[in-house]
Amino acid sequence: MRIYRAKDYYDMSRKAANIISAQVIMKPDCVLGLATGSTPVGTYAQLVEWYKKGDLDFSEVKTVNLDEYKGLDQSNDQSYFYFMAEHLFDKVNIDFQNVNIPNGMETDADKECARYEAKIKALGGVDLQLLGIGHNGHIGFNEPNGQFDRTTHCVNLTQSTIEANKRFFASEEDVPRQAYTMGIKTIMQANKILMVASGEDKAEIVKRAFFGPITPEVPASVLQLHNDVTLVGDEAALSLIG
Ligand code: F6R
Repeated sequence: MRIYRAKDYYDMSRKAANIISAQVIMKPDCVLGLATGSTPVGTYAQLVEWYKKGDLDFSEVKTVNLDEYKGLDQSNDQSYFYFMAEHLFDKVNIDFQNVNIPNGMETDADKECARYEAKIKALGGVDLQLLGIGHNGHIGFNEPNGQFDRTTHCVNLTQSTIEANKRFFASEEDVPRQAYTMGIKTIMQANKILMVASGEDKAEIVKRAFFGPITPEVPASVLQLHNDVTLVGDEAALSLIG
């Protein structure tokens, strides 16, 4: 595992965007696994800036997002599709045909999860998977005490995640109770993993995930078993690790 220490959020975002850029430059038709949440917003902004300068070309890039709320359609401003369009896809020359996000409007969970997993396989797998980390160690919507061998599946959100995400909705009742997410197994099959972490409130979980026991209680701890993981964190998020 490589750990890159950034001095602040901006620096973290630039370092992470550099790694993604390198991937796109080395393999213009690569498959990028993408994440939503507040942490990667600056990374996407940096990629957009470099695209506008003419340094990056997304025309052949393919993307697969980690997750999507079940029950929200693409035009809902809280859907992860909407988030990705707003922060990245609408601002670069990506072909929307190459964009993949679980379909939150598909009510048949088995069907949607099988379709999504097959799509990732058909693309040849993920070259570089970007991840954030939840306060309880979740990655994607893989909450504590799930199984490490799951592929894309439908999850019931935990109360802690509902609470963390309610800031984006009009009220807690509006937060969807279920989501589709790549499973830990899907995530672990990516060739490379890039995790971004920012803020003092992530310091404890970052330490547990990367230096604590590998356990389903901390889903991100499984990343210790992956052979190509890069953690880019700001000083605050890395403050409890050497
Ligand atoms: C988002 C995702 C989540 C977030 C995590 C951290 O697609 O899968 O696991 O990465 O909840 O979110 P932030 O970055 O908002 O702290």
